[in-house]
Amino acid sequence: MVALSAVRTHNATLKSLSPGLVAVFVGGTSGIGFSTAREFVRNTDAPHIYLVGRNQIEASKIIDEFQQLNPSSQLNFIKSDVSLLRNVDEVCKEIKEKEDKVNLLFMTVGYLTLQGRQETVEGLDRKFSLHYYARMRFVQNLAPLLTTAANNPDPKANLSRVVSVLDSRLGRAVAPNFSDLSLKDNFSLKNCAVHACSMMNFTLEHFAQQYPATSFIHAYPSGVRTGALRPMGPVVNNVLKAVTVLLKPFMVDLKESGERHLYAATAPQFAPREAKADGKENVAKGMDEEPGSGAYALNWNGEVFGESQKAAGLRAEGAEKRIWDHTEEVFRKICDENGKY
Ligand SMILES: NC(=O)c1ccc[n+]([C@@H]2O[C@H](COP(=O)([O-])OP(=O)(O)OC[C@H]3O[C@@H](n4cnc5c(N)ncnc54)[C@H](OP(=O)(O)O)[C@@H]3O)[C@@H](O)[C@H]2O)c1
Repeated sequence: MVALSAVRTHNATLKSLSPGLVAVFVGGTSGIGFSTAREFVRNTDAPHIYLVGRNQIEASKIIDEFQQLNPSSQLNFIKSDVSLLRNVDEVCKEIKEKEDKVNLLFMTVGYLTLQGRQETVEGLDRKFSLHYYARMRFVQNLAPLLTTAANNPDPKANLSRVVSVLDSRLGRAVAPNFSDLSLKDNFSLKNCAVHACSMMNFTLEHFAQQYPATSFIHAYPSGVRTGALRPMGPVVNNVLKAVTVLLKPFMVDLKESGERHLYAATAPQFAPREAKADGKENVAKGMDEEPGSGAYALNWNGEVFGESQKAAGLRAEGAEKRIWDHTEEVFRKICDENGKY
């Protein structure tokens, strides 16, 4: 476990990085995304921050707070329902018009629900889209800007990282159903969680190979009391609130979660794949057990999960390629052909 004092010591060093780091928080208007954005603003010099979400009122309040916290920051809110991949493309287009690099893509977008499959006009389940397809589309679209950031010769300006917060543990434990990866016919909340987490692990490994100057992290936050219960409705919400009060001693405080995720987003041991070729030492173990592989599965406390037997078996059966081929097909049908999956 990385001690909170070590996290804080590291985060305080970020002030010495070059001014003007660019960070995109997809899901930055609430919870872990908000808390991590706040720590980023507090600890960096003149950051350019993009918060992506739908709640304009909340975003305005957050922007006021961040402006006071660090008057050198440039703060932007992009209002969009990114469960639609075509909206993801629009958001990325807007960012590309304003920035020529992105140092951090931090994704927490999603929600809790007890409902079954809710199909979007693009033919995907809404929750599954937010947890997997939309996030991976953000990565694909912004990868060139992340590579530009990585190629900065100044080591104080070359941070280039993607962090996706969901459940890296689950991603290693259970296999997806390869005959129905989008869960058109086999949707359940459990299958949705398994597919999003497992497919994310393999796709981040794929991206780490394709974009070796950027590092990719799938993080498990543990229990954090956030706005995540809101969409469950008042009755379930109140019951779950009472449960979280009882569980408080076992949960991670929201501020600590933000501090720990800022650490994940910036600590040097989660190095990009190409750093290994440079002989960089003290790199963390990747999801495939290889030190410095560029794709890491993190626990809430900063420890990495290495290879699991299940993931090793799936990898040997070509899971990464099968999942990426499927994801590309979804992107092609929806984004390139303006159709439906
Ligand atoms: N909190 C926990 O204990 C916990 C535990 C395990 C895993 N997780 C996972 O970690 C992630 C973050 O959780 P959290 O607790 O921080 O959640 P949260 O407080 O509910 O925040 C979710 C964010 O997603 C945005 N969002 C939701 N639907 C959207 C849409 N259609 N388009 C654009 N933005 C949308 C929300 O913004 P708007 O409201 O502005 O749209 C909000 O900023 C989630 O994926 C969650 O499943 C959380």
